[in-house]
Amino acid sequence: MTELNINGKVARAEVEGDTPLLWVIRDHLGLTGTKYGCGVVQCGACTVHVDGAAIRSCSVPVSAIPPTARIVTIEGLGATRLKVVQQAWAELDVAQCGYCQPGMMMAASALLAQNASPSESDIRDGISNICRCGTYPRVLAAVQLAATRLAANAA
Ligand code: FES
Ligand code: FES
Repeated sequence: MTELNINGKVARAEVEGDTPLLWVIRDHLGLTGTKYGCGVVQCGACTVHVDGAAIRSCSVPVSAIPPTARIVTIEGLGATRLKVVQQAWAELDVAQCGYCQPGMMMAASALLAQNASPSESDIRDGISNICRCGTYPRVLAAVQLAATRLAANAA
């Protein structure tokens, strides 16, 4: 039995230790906002936070996550101060097909937690997620808007 702290709650799943975290989140816990894209740490569709850091959950065995680690998925992001990321995404109508967007928002929110005022190159370097719809310019604008809102909220 694996125990995880996910979105502020304790969750348990009967899985083998080498099961990727992504499949525990999606198939066992029913949190399907986190997506499967490539399965090989390339696209970022599976991005979640573990203790505030963005990780690609497709390639992390669940046994590598201690029960005390705080996991946040896109479903839990709205309960954090970084819900401004989702608000900026909605305001700028960033998503096209939407498939990559939960991972994009998780990567963006982790970046903003580490760097409250990222430059354009910080954002380009910090978010390496792939979007086949090409939403990159709107992603950039939304991260900049979210950073502005976070700075105003902190003032
Ligand atoms: S599905 Fe994990 S990086 Fe692509
Ligand atoms: S919005 Fe379609 S893949 Fe990114």
